[in-house]
Amino acid sequence: MRKEKLINTEKKEIIWHTSQVTAHERCILLRHQPVTLWITGLSGSGKSTLAFALERRLINKGVNSAVLDGDNLRHGLNRDLGFSPVDRTENIRRVAEVARLINNAGVIVIASFISPYRQDRAMAKEIIGSEQFVEIYLNTDLDTCEKRDTKGLYRKALAGELKGFTGISSPYEAPLNPVLTLDTAILTVDECLELLLSELITRCRMEGLY
Ligand code: ADX
Repeated sequence: MRKEKLINTEKKEIIWHTSQVTAHERCILLRHQPVTLWITGLSGSGKSTLAFALERRLINKGVNSAVLDGDNLRHGLNRDLGFSPVDRTENIRRVAEVARLINNAGVIVIASFISPYRQDRAMAKEIIGSEQFVEIYLNTDLDTCEKRDTKGLYRKALAGELKGFTGISSPYEAPLNPVLTLDTAILTVDECLELLLSELITRCRMEGLY
């Protein structure tokens, strides 16, 4: 578990309160380690579909989890942010802090964000903790995502009606060393879920549970 530190060292009047509950106690209570599955990929690659399907599967197995989804969080916590590089960085920073809090409460997080910049994902890893951060790359090609165009955003972006759209007029930097790479143009949702679950069972040390 990531060691807590005094983040606001320059503000001496703000102190850190340490919980009386240890991470180990929570693991015993919940019977698994908390991790954050960080799902990155282009819009339309299937991040949200997989995140919510995985949450469903986990609940069916009696394991709690929380989905943090890009579109959803932009309705609330991140409603003041747009899609400039600076705003995307702030989006990821806030989400990573929330993921860390949820992980600290012992709960598994499934985060689905385009998170197009390597540097931002490295920041998320730093905030969440390198042991907890599990990077999942949906490498579904742009052509497939464009054809799916479930939200009609590629059509708008290609018509020039939507500026700075990832993959069209804004870059996507693929992960260099993801834990798992899934191509949703080839694999079915069920096949992806099996791979995600097996990764999760190992990472969360859930073996004894099933
Ligand atoms: S991120 O780049 O900051 O990580 P995030 O995952 O929160 O993005 O939000 C992506 C979602 O916002 C997309 O699935 C899409 O529905 C919507 N969206 C609207 N405008 C854009 C844009 N310019 N680029 C990417 N996604 C956009």
